[in-house]
Amino acid sequence: TKPLRLGIAGLGTVGAGVVKIVRQKANLLASRAGRPVVITAVSARNRDKDRGVNLTDYAWEDDPVALAKRDDVDVFVELMGGSDGPAKAATEAAIAAGKDVVTANKAMLAHHGQALALAAEDAGCVIGFEAAVAGGIPVIKALSEGLSGNNITRVMGVMNGTCNYILTRMQSAGLPYDVVFEEANQLGYLEADPTLDVGGIDAGHKLSLLAAIAFGSQVNFDAVELEGIERITIEDINHAADMGYRIKLLGVCQMTGRGLEQRMSPCLVPDNSPLGQLEGGTNMCVLEGDSVEQIVLRGPGAGEGPTASAVMGDVMDIARGFRMPVFGQPAAGLSKAKAAKAATP
Ligand code: NDP
Ligand code: HSE
Repeated sequence: TKPLRLGIAGLGTVGAGVVKIVRQKANLLASRAGRPVVITAVSARNRDKDRGVNLTDYAWEDDPVALAKRDDVDVFVELMGGSDGPAKAATEAAIAAGKDVVTANKAMLAHHGQALALAAEDAGCVIGFEAAVAGGIPVIKALSEGLSGNNITRVMGVMNGTCNYILTRMQSAGLPYDVVFEEANQLGYLEADPTLDVGGIDAGHKLSLLAAIAFGSQVNFDAVELEGIERITIEDINHAADMGYRIKLLGVCQMTGRGLEQRMSPCLVPDNSPLGQLEGGTNMCVLEGDSVEQIVLRGPGAGEGPTASAVMGDVMDIARGFRMPVFGQPAAGLSKAKAAKAATP
């Protein structure tokens, strides 16, 4: 049987985690997919960096665009990050070359998801992005597959591990901001630009992706009402605790009389509620639909193992031949190519 050949761009926290899974669980992956899953080529900025994984079996490309176009790559795995720049250029190149894409890059999808989805649809490619939202929690699959027989009424939750880690550790361990921030860094939770985390922007990116799937709308990150945790002080956290509450960076999206509401902001939640009890880098997603009523998914929202787990879930879907439209349905509206075709008498 033909192996599924991966080209991985980005060998940091998540990329190294993916390499470990592919190397250490080759037999498990092959038996589940019915074919071997292998890495053929990799790319990162610094070829000489020790990443704690053996890369000698793989071809090296300095340029991720070149990696994306290689003939020996079936799936381009984008784990570099950044909404534009090399991540977007290489993803576009992969799609143009007819390759499927798996990415953890919520920033890129929040800003360019619609265009990339249309390009992928035209090219017959899939883009898996389970790892982009809530780390190890398979919330994309839950919404776009398991709950696809529901009218989704509301999606809410805690979607940034860094913020939850900072807010809970400051209170429970009584540690200052700088110390808990560095702990989150050591755990691999932070974005390359951590202002995206504490500013609520990363969580807003995630919410905009969930909203598009849940409500069949175009990704509209600009419409997310955003407030981060930068202005929350230890005094705020302690006052909330005195009143029986915890402060959480909580996202909500729901359809209202005024249209789709998307909001990410610090909220008070009861201390003894499931949301209030979320510690450290844990995330929680609450999904509500007219038939299912409510389901709650809880798990690690960031870090090497959990995020690599989600990446591999998408890789395994592709290896098995499962081809989900990018946002759970054909990309909204007709692409230019299809519209032109449809207009032809
Ligand atoms: P890291 O900063 O740890 O790793 C980024 C990797 O990309 C590095 O290996 C870096 O190379 C490489 N890279 C950066 N720019 C280039 C470039 N121009 N050309 C080639 N390679 C490049 O990031 P993470 O692994 O933490 O995150 C990767 C992606 O996953 C991001 O989109 C992030 O948002 C997302 N994500 C991360 C999670 C986490 O918990 N860390 C969770 C969920 C999603 P080098 O090592 O040589 O510098
Ligand atoms: N920086 C992100 C977080 C990584 O802390 O949640 C996971 O998406």
